[in-house]
Amino acid sequence: MSLAACGKVPLRSLLRTGLAWNLLRFCRHNSGSKGLVLGVYEGGKVDEAIQFTKAGELFDNSISGRLKELLTISGPALKKGRSRIFYGLHQDFPHVVVVGLGDKNAEVNSLEQCDEGKENIRAAVAVGCRQLQDLEVPHVEVDTCGDAHCAAEGSVLGLFEYNELKKKKKTAVTVKPYGSLENAAWQRGVTYAEGQNLARHLMEAPANYLTPTSFAEIIQQALHSTSDKIEVHIRSKSWIEEQQMGAFLSVAKGSDEEPVFLEIHYNGSTVSSESPLVFVGKGITFDSGGVSIKPASGMDAMRADMGGAATICSAITTAASLKLPLNVIGLAPLCENMVNGRANKPGDVVRAKNGKTIQVDNTDAEGRLILADALCYAHNFNPKVVVNAATLTGAMDVALGSAATGVFTNSDWLWEHLKAASIVTGDRVWRMPLFQHYTKQVTESQLADLNNIGKYSRSGGACTAAAFLQEFVTVPHWAHLDIAGVMSNKDEVPYLRKGMAGRPTRTLVEFIVSLSQENQKS
Ligand code: BES
Ligand code: ZN
Ligand code: ZN
Repeated sequence: MSLAACGKVPLRSLLRTGLAWNLLRFCRHNSGSKGLVLGVYEGGKVDEAIQFTKAGELFDNSISGRLKELLTISGPALKKGRSRIFYGLHQDFPHVVVVGLGDKNAEVNSLEQCDEGKENIRAAVAVGCRQLQDLEVPHVEVDTCGDAHCAAEGSVLGLFEYNELKKKKKTAVTVKPYGSLENAAWQRGVTYAEGQNLARHLMEAPANYLTPTSFAEIIQQALHSTSDKIEVHIRSKSWIEEQQMGAFLSVAKGSDEEPVFLEIHYNGSTVSSESPLVFVGKGITFDSGGVSIKPASGMDAMRADMGGAATICSAITTAASLKLPLNVIGLAPLCENMVNGRANKPGDVVRAKNGKTIQVDNTDAEGRLILADALCYAHNFNPKVVVNAATLTGAMDVALGSAATGVFTNSDWLWEHLKAASIVTGDRVWRMPLFQHYTKQVTESQLADLNNIGKYSRSGGACTAAAFLQEFVTVPHWAHLDIAGVMSNKDEVPYLRKGMAGRPTRTLVEFIVSLSQENQKS
């Protein structure tokens, strides 16, 4: 970051602006003050080093070109994602952050499977908003940079931090579009980003706070604040027993925490009998590995092993906020994977809802057990589509890292929709194989119909896990999203702070939007 901060901007130019006194005043005291984030494109030629956006142009004109002047004298042209702050330039905006947007003509890059223009806006705006937050500026107006939806996402995602349990919190910042008429697009962007932030909140929360029961209650509350076309069923252990979900129960009984099967319905379609999209999410609120216990180092991250449940429930909550005209059902088996005297033991055999028996050779492969029963249950709703999301395998992280969610699907149609959605959101997906090759490795079991780990244990671990899930699916349009690799963020996604990422909530939302639009057409 190059900072033309207090004292770093040449004094001569400040005196020329006649605002040196204001500068000192504003630097000392920001409470109640306003900041502005402006984007600037990377110039092509030397003589056009500064290319403002429309908003930047307007702002600069309103102060007689002083911003352009200061940008020129304060350092080299701003590279993508770099920023510079100016103080006291405008009486309404004591703080102005200018951020590099990169190439003005950036667009969809098919090799990168990403809309780089949109990603540049999200990243730039996030940098600017965070800088103003660090300066404790409580009100920020944001240049929409020609795409208010993305600018809103960058602002709201960029500012999120889980600090509920800390005494010292970051300044609460309100964001709004600067001089823009694109209010509806801005608001949609805010809604998408708040959806992802809900998932991040649930994933980041420690497991002693976020239990199966509290997860269900938070989603119930969030959903009820969106629409009246909502049904929430928080199913108890006795219901799960009645449903004969033996695989789910076998995992849950290893913990003192009661399991919950969360079932949510958003009935947005005008035709109530219309087939729903059914989303299923892995909801392990803590994964110790069970008797096949995990190594101690990094085990705390397994509080986010309910990321599948968090992202699908947050996506449905967002769909309800957007009042989309279609029906969506969310199913989340929620429990802990712990070790007590009743916990699964390697070699135990359990029976899933569809009658298939499973040899549990590794108790740490628990996600597929709870999903098996939830997938069977999903078929009761005559679904148009079944999509499940799960932090299922470490092997998925080995394969793709945090670049993309791995998608295993039996449907080219579904794949195309998921891929298209991800190009818009920047939260990518990548197709993975569902070969019989992998199925063979989970259907050869000594004691049961299936084994919960592949015959060659580590090889192709994400693929054998997907093949296992497929044994519980009969619908023609099903996709399994392995989100283990995208569970958390260090600094790979520039507009997300370090922590649990809530990916790919926005891609799921965009996917729902695309199917609702297809519904409207037909
Ligand atoms: N929750 C883990 C997978 C995981 C690992 C998610 C890292 C996020 C980050 C899952 O339950 C698990 O432990 N899977 C095992 C399966 C193995 C025993 C076949 C794994 O990946 O090691
Ligand atoms: Zn596990
Ligand atoms: Zn797990």
